[in-house]
Amino acid sequence: MSVRLRLAAIGVAVATAAAGLALVSAPAAVALDNGLARTPQMGFNNWNATHCSGDFNEAMVKGIADLFVSSGLKDAGYQYVNLDDCWALPSRDASGNLVPDPVRFPDGIKAVADYVHAKGLKFGLYSSAGTKTCNSAGFPGGLGHEKQDAALWASRGVDYLKYDNCNNQGVDAVQRYTAMRDALAATGRPILYSLCEWGQNQPWNWATDVGNSWRTTGDISDKFSSMLANFKKNVVLAQYAGPGHWNDPDMLEVGNGGMTDTEYRSHFSLWSIMAAPLLIGSDIRKATPATMSILTNRDIIAVDQDPLGIQGTELSNANGLHVIAKPLANGDRAVALFNENTTPATISTTAAAVGLPKAFGYQLDDLWSHRTTETAGKISATVPAHGTAMFRVHSGGDWWSNPPAVHTSADLPVPYPGAPALVQPGTTTTVTTVTSNDGVLPGLFGDVKLTGPAGWTVKATTTTFYPVLPPGHDVSTKWSVTTPAGTPPGSYPLHVSTTYAPGRSTVDYDMTVSVATPLAVGTTGLGDDPWLSADNGYGPVERNTSNGESKAGDGHPIKLGGVTYAKGLGTNAPSTITYYLGGRCSTISSTVGLDDEKTGAGSVTFEIWADGKKVADSGLIKRGDPAQTLTADATGASLLRLIVTDGGDGNTNDHADWANAQITCA
Ligand code: GLA
Repeated sequence: MSVRLRLAAIGVAVATAAAGLALVSAPAAVALDNGLARTPQMGFNNWNATHCSGDFNEAMVKGIADLFVSSGLKDAGYQYVNLDDCWALPSRDASGNLVPDPVRFPDGIKAVADYVHAKGLKFGLYSSAGTKTCNSAGFPGGLGHEKQDAALWASRGVDYLKYDNCNNQGVDAVQRYTAMRDALAATGRPILYSLCEWGQNQPWNWATDVGNSWRTTGDISDKFSSMLANFKKNVVLAQYAGPGHWNDPDMLEVGNGGMTDTEYRSHFSLWSIMAAPLLIGSDIRKATPATMSILTNRDIIAVDQDPLGIQGTELSNANGLHVIAKPLANGDRAVALFNENTTPATISTTAAAVGLPKAFGYQLDDLWSHRTTETAGKISATVPAHGTAMFRVHSGGDWWSNPPAVHTSADLPVPYPGAPALVQPGTTTTVTTVTSNDGVLPGLFGDVKLTGPAGWTVKATTTTFYPVLPPGHDVSTKWSVTTPAGTPPGSYPLHVSTTYAPGRSTVDYDMTVSVATPLAVGTTGLGDDPWLSADNGYGPVERNTSNGESKAGDGHPIKLGGVTYAKGLGTNAPSTITYYLGGRCSTISSTVGLDDEKTGAGSVTFEIWADGKKVADSGLIKRGDPAQTLTADATGASLLRLIVTDGGDGNTNDHADWANAQITCA
């Protein structure tokens, strides 16, 4: 019987049994019966840190194993030390066996495995369900060699196989991955089996009893946009994950340097609430204290490793503000409030919405600040740009022994929701702080303080002291914040600290305000002008060239319908470029279209926004459509946005140019 038919038959048998035993809870999906990965696997893999560089060698692997023990990672649950592509030589030996690269691994694979085992850890290897692995050097893959390779790995002490998808010769995926499953089983050694099929053949539909985990996405890279895209693809697959069979949105980038620590905390929070494998992908021999504290946050790890084994589901994601909730074995709920946007936002849900029973009060454990408070039901936080607040919430117990959940946010007037918070040197801005009490009990002696950078003047213009912070209510304070004349362009922190009783509680909130560089007087090219921010669907926005591909500076001369333009902006949808105009500018013009450098289908729209108002719109532009000239008037506007949206057919071919984009300012 084919695997598909066999799985279908199991499904029918399970459904029949469940129908006959209505009182018995539904049986779990049938997992691979190797007994492994009952909670998502945790460990290390070198790929994201080294690729196939010379840094990938025996010394590195041993160093990581040493650190697992000495730095507390092993105690925190990390177990597997795994080698990725390029561990072998390009040719098999005379007997057809894989040969370890003698430069990288002079003592062979068994010696490394023994070293790792001696530390009480487990050891993993990589191959591909194809004739060759993914690296262009072409290392031998396992297709057609399943039994021989599996037997060799078992004899070398391998505990984990990551099995890739390159060079698969078009052979059916179920067949390829099942052949290796059976070969691994035949060795008699328990080997965790991690499918790396990138989600191409929807492995969540067929791999439950084939592998212990399956990749659901293409490769992650060390960028917020890549992490976000993988999160979005993986979060919708919650129903398919469970003990022994997990969705895998790819390995961690935490610590590799391409994201901020706030973004890495989001990455780690989201992977954990999605019950994803946690494979460290940075060279932790060089880790910063911040990286180590993220990777060893046991409260977050406990969410990932919760024995109930349910992947969190997304309850809402309106406007890039995500609420994800995960039921835990003891009846608690983990809740992540994730802000994918570039400005802070308050994100809220309730105990009822995350599935907790009705109760008078709930205990709220903040898994990053490690503060515990009580709430009447609201679960809310003001989350920084690209940040995540994560909580464990439980009902009943002695919730009342904790201070009420009080939080403060700060805002200044902006021309449209989500606009950056700007201040002008030599002027005074009104900042409003809002303090909310989500608790059952009142907060007492509430005292709000706002501080700015050295040399700035911050004065409260309304009261900062609240004898009572009433539950379910907000109180606000207005402040005048003066930015000193001559403050150079850049970002500046404002810090809000609120203290209240009981328990001398303190909550902090950090706000960033920016001083923008003004645009030059006259008509200038937007490809040369300073922007406030530039978000792009793929790679960075390019100045005066097309988008190219992933790296900065890899574009080509902007070309639309055979015409080359020396100036402009090269984007890949979806893209937003924001400029500070300060009410001094008027006309904007640009020729827009899809760059000739791509030939595949693609479609986009170009929009020009002056503050909160759309002042030009190209309508849908498809591949082959002629370039269009857009002109718009931004008189009086503080901010300009050039927006390109994906036309609805994916963004692979959406190299969208703002050719000869110009603005006139006074
Ligand atoms: C593929 C996989 C990656 C990595 C490389 C190695 O791209 O998806 O995770 O293993 O191959 O070449």
